[in-house]
Amino acid sequence: MWLLVATKEKKEEVQVPVQSGTLYQKFFDNLPGYSVTEKHWLTGHISLYVKNNSIDLEELQSLVKRFPKLFRIWFGFFRPSIQLVHPDTIKIMLKTSEPKPLGIGGNYRPALPWLGEGLLLAGGAKWARSRRLLTPAFHFEILKPYQTIYNSCTDKLLGLIDTYAETGESFELFQLISNCTLDIILQCAFSYQTDCQKDRDQHPYCRAISNVANLVATRHRQAAGKQEKKKYLDFLDILLSAKDETGIGLSPADIRAEVDTFMFEGHDTTTSGISWILYELAKNQSYQKLCQQEVDKVLRDSNDFVTWENLSQFDILTQCIKEGMRIHPPVPIVSRQSTKEVTIEGVTFPPDTTFSVNIYGLHHNPAVWKDHTTYDPSRFSKDRDSVLDSYAFIPFSAGPRNCIGQNFAMNEEKL
Ligand code: HEM
Repeated sequence: MWLLVATKEKKEEVQVPVQSGTLYQKFFDNLPGYSVTEKHWLTGHISLYVKNNSIDLEELQSLVKRFPKLFRIWFGFFRPSIQLVHPDTIKIMLKTSEPKPLGIGGNYRPALPWLGEGLLLAGGAKWARSRRLLTPAFHFEILKPYQTIYNSCTDKLLGLIDTYAETGESFELFQLISNCTLDIILQCAFSYQTDCQKDRDQHPYCRAISNVANLVATRHRQAAGKQEKKKYLDFLDILLSAKDETGIGLSPADIRAEVDTFMFEGHDTTTSGISWILYELAKNQSYQKLCQQEVDKVLRDSNDFVTWENLSQFDILTQCIKEGMRIHPPVPIVSRQSTKEVTIEGVTFPPDTTFSVNIYGLHHNPAVWKDHTTYDPSRFSKDRDSVLDSYAFIPFSAGPRNCIGQNFAMNEEKL
């Protein structure tokens, strides 16, 4: 039996057991995880799990080793969080369409004023409608022409790296990649001709955000009037023309939320992914050499332009990319807030429990990945890949709320 308690904010309801907080506390205290004696009366287990404002990854790995399916952490005296770290437990949650924790203290709350109810944060019917309207934007026929953009932005990046290679000067790779992925998302999503890689003086992200806002307004006006012929359709074209079964399209506020979501999801994640993959290839020179040989072979007759067809010919490169994202998942954790009872590992959790699908924990779970710290791309070779549980490697999450941009991202990472 659970009682709904309305909080100050109209929409938020917290569910607690009828018999006061004691039963609720006991229920969660009894789950696997840090012991109750380690719990601080106010901050719970935060000081054990979080160091210097971020999760202590070694601590997380040791928790995963001790509790290979799931464990509980108290984030403060009133907020238990269930960390799922195994395919058996993760798939139960990811197969549902349970919403993300957006209430006070919820993991996604800070992003709400920025991203609004875009696809990433929306829930229920609003999410389902937006997902339906946006899915065509990621059809391969739409993605194909982006190859030209990927190629030209990557050429610029390589030109910049070359100048450092010539002088032998060390440099911050992350920022160069970040400017490159920003150029790519701005051109693919909004046909906005930028050169963030060249104009590095003013912060390109801030400039890009304000420019994109103006661009959306202009394109709205254009959509109503005459349209110039374009070489490819960008995401904004799809957003502006999308209509549901009743003929109703996205409102200006919806479009704004989706634009912000694409900028956020389509830039930081790929930057982090590419930077870590290059880091691992720098450390593991033998794989770097194999990639180099494969690229030379595939591009033998193609003037260094990577075509759409080439993308599926990069077998070793794909393995190296996947292994990079296994060890360093760009999105390390995603969360859900249950709306009804759910049974996992024989335990029935009450509604309103916060679950974290701990992707980093899963990718470093020794019960799932042997020698999990070793960079071994052959884990993803065709013969070994096929025996993997489909929920063992989930950098793009899985289930109905998986990453809508995963093909876009994989193509970009290969380039
Ligand atoms: C390496 C790159 C990327 C990674 C690792 C990644 C990972 C993820 C993950 C883990 C989720 C699930 C989030 C959650 O459940 O809260 C997600 C959702 C999403 N991603 Fe990505 N992403 C990447 C690139 C992109 C790109 C390039 C775009 C768009 C251009 C994009 C757009 C989205 C959107 C809109 C969602 C929400 C989908 C929904 O809830 O229906 N992502 N991504």
